[in-house]
Amino acid sequence: MTSARIAPRAARPAPKSAHSASKSAHPELVEGCPSRGHSDLDLSRWLVLGEDRGQFPPGWQAVRARGARVRLREMASGRERVFFDLIGGYGGNNFGHGHPAIRAALRMALEELDHVAVFPSGQAQELARRLVKKCGFASGRCYFTVGGSQAVEIALRIGRLLTGKPGIAVMEGAFHGYGAETVALSRDYVPEELMRVTPAAAPVTRLAWNDERAFAQLSAAAQTTGTLLFEPILGAAGFRVPDARWLGQLLELARELGMLSIADEIQVGCGRTGKFLAIEHLVGPRSRRRSWLDGVLLSKSLAGSVYPLSAVVLNADRTPGLSTIDETAALGESFTNSPLGCAAALAALDLLEADGGALMSKAARLVGALRRQLERAAATRRSCTVRGLGATIAVDFGDKRSATQFVRRAFDQGVLCYVCGGHRWATVKLIPPLTLTPQEAEEVGGRLIRALEMGA
Ligand SMILES: Cc1ncc(COP(=O)(O)O)c(C=O)c1O
Repeated sequence: MTSARIAPRAARPAPKSAHSASKSAHPELVEGCPSRGHSDLDLSRWLVLGEDRGQFPPGWQAVRARGARVRLREMASGRERVFFDLIGGYGGNNFGHGHPAIRAALRMALEELDHVAVFPSGQAQELARRLVKKCGFASGRCYFTVGGSQAVEIALRIGRLLTGKPGIAVMEGAFHGYGAETVALSRDYVPEELMRVTPAAAPVTRLAWNDERAFAQLSAAAQTTGTLLFEPILGAAGFRVPDARWLGQLLELARELGMLSIADEIQVGCGRTGKFLAIEHLVGPRSRRRSWLDGVLLSKSLAGSVYPLSAVVLNADRTPGLSTIDETAALGESFTNSPLGCAAALAALDLLEADGGALMSKAARLVGALRRQLERAAATRRSCTVRGLGATIAVDFGDKRSATQFVRRAFDQGVLCYVCGGHRWATVKLIPPLTLTPQEAEEVGGRLIRALEMGA
């Protein structure tokens, strides 16, 4: 395997017996562990979360990452290997690892300004201005926070504050984060205004995805539901694209019913599909997006893969009631408007906008070709289908075991990818960086096809 771009590092010798090493060096870590007698490999699982659902060989840690590649170390042997990273930070690595322009922006920002509460930085103001425009809104307002779930929470709070209705309508198969709605836990500190709109359990209506039944379901929920939250393209379900007409009709209906429509672009936004927003593929004209959309949520790749930042971008024309909310009390957080995150995001936006969006369109073409290559290879296998849009690829294997085995074989071939929740854990997602070169695409394609053929 080539490791051209990542300078090899001397592997640290592994402890002789990982368990005994931990025992002598850090007895406190062993004492607190609910299960004694585990090896250090198991202990590593107690110490930090490394989600894998049994897909990867255990006991590897990340050492260094650049561009499309990541170096992993097997903890037991100290052996290191370089892999192509198509897990892509679950959609957070659109610019690959350690992009020089983003690192430079962060370095400069670090020199100037760390976190200052209350007063937004110039970068935050500039980023908000550009994001409002990129979302197609004539005027707007941005709330910057640190993660996807927080952005979703803020959007839901805004929906409730503006409509007075606690209910939320979401699509079947959608994923909007694992965060609880934490406001209810902070009751003593929450202003009365917010308490009134924070029910113990919000009514949630699940709409049949890409199905006409969704219209009746949304209408039936209208009395208690103020917000329609939707992923334009289902990410966790394995990049499923709905019919554009169906989505348009649903958004039109939500508008007639007085609901706020919020597009969750946390996973598929920021250029992943070949356009800045995935919804641009479905609701083409900017004027339509302006009149149907009240807000857009962004995160993951927003700050160029290196900084946790998320944004709630609101369409001010459709949310005039915002001025009546006590925003600081209702929507503020400690890390609102992170100057570092906003500086990184500005550099990331520059990359996406350079040469009329060449990075996005080139990646969509290159990954599209890779997808077609995989489609041809998959056609020889029973119940294996490939789909995607722009720089997204999902391979459906029909069952969880085959999908997991493919991930293992890809690992052996030096490619990291993962099984996602869609279609009962039978779908593998491939999320290469937009910066992938044609040579890298060819190499990745060859390895993935070998992994596919080995399982045929
Ligand atoms: C569409 C979508 N919304 C929200 C989230 C939650 O983001 P986070 O994991 O940063 O809380 C995710 C995460 O995968 C997501 O894909």
